[in-house]
Amino acid sequence: MTEHPAPAVRLPSPLVELVDERLARQGVRLSLKRDDLIHPELTGNKYRKLRLNLAAARDGGHGTLLTFGGAWSNHLRATAAAGRLFGFRTVGVVRGEELAARPLNPSLARAAADGMRLDFVDRATYRRKAEPEVVAALLARHGPAYVLPEGGSNALAVHGCTDLGREIGGEADVVAVACGTGGTLAGLAAGLPPGVRAIGFAVLRGGFLGGEVDRLQRAAFGGRRGRWQVADGFHHGGFARTTPALDAFAADFADRHGLAPDPVYVAKALHGVFTLAADGAFPPGTRVTAVVTG
Ligand SMILES: Cc1ncc(COP(=O)(O)O)c(C=O)c1O
Repeated sequence: MTEHPAPAVRLPSPLVELVDERLARQGVRLSLKRDDLIHPELTGNKYRKLRLNLAAARDGGHGTLLTFGGAWSNHLRATAAAGRLFGFRTVGVVRGEELAARPLNPSLARAAADGMRLDFVDRATYRRKAEPEVVAALLARHGPAYVLPEGGSNALAVHGCTDLGREIGGEADVVAVACGTGGTLAGLAAGLPPGVRAIGFAVLRGGFLGGEVDRLQRAAFGGRRGRWQVADGFHHGGFARTTPALDAFAADFADRHGLAPDPVYVAKALHGVFTLAADGAFPPGTRVTAVVTG
């Protein structure tokens, strides 16, 4: 597979130790894997998930990427930016036809400014977005395109995320990551050396992400890989929901460490790490690495 020359990306991303007395009391050491510093527009897991897909799109002769997301989707915005940076047209299929009549929110406005053509579809159709008839109708409307699933998580994205595990290697005993569609955890866990385990903190409720990670690992590798689990107790009400405890934790973390964690994903994972540490879930001496995915 030939890869398109990439814009300057910072890889491997920095791994920095963070001193926090609450963890030190438990004998736990925490490092942050700063994937948010990989690229200003393809931050966090986005570059890792897109890299091999962009190469496959190019090799397949595609000039257009078509993908899916909600009105605030980081993935839609990153795909639009990747289109501009790597020379693809982009189409974003957005959940909610009512949004078509409203001014674009800043996230969609950014995607549109990067050249993404936005197609607002009703929620019933959006739920069926992986069905062949729905995809065929979209391709008939927009022309041939390389189709990326919601959140960008497919087998190639999972393969791209194995680099994250390889970069961390044996520097950690436990790696913590936020889990939205499960692709990042699926690849990360597969790339870690034996003996290092990964915990995915689900940011959605419903308890289905373990099954998704399993499905994605089967699609990418033909079976389960690495040591991983999904923690379903830290979603704070569901996707983009929050609680006073989470808000207070995130504000305090920003004060102490000068890094304001993304509230939808990273804050939930960090809050999960600190809660598990306070509960004594990590034996003294455990080295935890938390991935700053955005
Ligand atoms: C900032 C951020 N962190 C974590 C995730 C979760 O990644 P995944 O969907 O691969 O589980 C996402 C969504 O893709 C994200 O935008």
